[in-house]
Amino acid sequence: MTDRYAVIGNPIEQSKSPLIHMAFAQVTGQDIDYGKVLAPLGGFAQAVDAFRAAGGQGMNVTAPFKLDAFAYASDLAPSAQIAGAVNALKFEGGRVYAENFDGVGLVRDVRHNLACTLQAQRVLVLGAGGATRGALLPILAEQPAELVIVNRTVDKAEALAALARQHQGGHVPVQGLGYEQLQGRQFDVVFNATSASLTAEVMPLPSSVFAPGALAYELAYGKGLTPFLQLAQQAGVTRLADGVGMLAEQAAEAFLWWRGVRPDTQAVIRQLTVPLV
Ligand code: ATR
Repeated sequence: MTDRYAVIGNPIEQSKSPLIHMAFAQVTGQDIDYGKVLAPLGGFAQAVDAFRAAGGQGMNVTAPFKLDAFAYASDLAPSAQIAGAVNALKFEGGRVYAENFDGVGLVRDVRHNLACTLQAQRVLVLGAGGATRGALLPILAEQPAELVIVNRTVDKAEALAALARQHQGGHVPVQGLGYEQLQGRQFDVVFNATSASLTAEVMPLPSSVFAPGALAYELAYGKGLTPFLQLAQQAGVTRLADGVGMLAEQAAEAFLWWRGVRPDTQAVIRQLTVPLV
């Protein structure tokens, strides 16, 4: 019998996950079906129960259900625990295993697809919401020279910096700051993990933060040259990226977790890339 997987969210029409996973299944020769589940708000657990009862083996979870999935899981991986959110579930017997592959997907994209190391680099992350939370430990595992989290609401940046320090034993210096404290500082890699790109708002980022040769990385996918990437470009940055590779890599991690085989991501990345113009 064909093994069944799905992505659950609300809305769900926009999700690229079925396309990505079916492409992975084809290249790896795995016999799976991957669909979309639109759950009503407040109806996450019922929808997942029904999917499991029908033989479903795993799910990806997208907005607004990443916290519901966290609550639903019986076994949370450390990545999900620190992110406080879940983006992949695996059903085995009565157990519900939960992971969050967003952060590891981001780091794999930077390392393998963009051929950029984070080791010994000065790394700046903009935003202190869920996206940043998920990325913290995978970034720190790369041993950057320092990690600075900057946020409009400074308290949240400070709280995440404290959390990061607590989880990585103080090997990498981590600071939580406000935007105005970035004056006079430079970074080799700048990640935009705010939701500002979704609303086309510009964050108050000094253009001087980009070191010569810096990488500017927008975690959002398919929005073209967002205000953040425009700002970077105007500051002279030539290495610009959006989250298409992160999307493909987090999917590949989930696929590996479910099926035991890692698919190559290059074809999917090529297919989904929206030019940065
Ligand atoms: P996500 O789960 O996508 O990370 P979130 O948890 O709502 O979403 O977090 C959104 C992040 O984007 C927050 O860090 C938010 O800053 P505040 O904590 O100060 O609200 C940040 N953000 C949203 N719009 C922004 C803007 N126009 N300028 C700067 N930061 C912005």
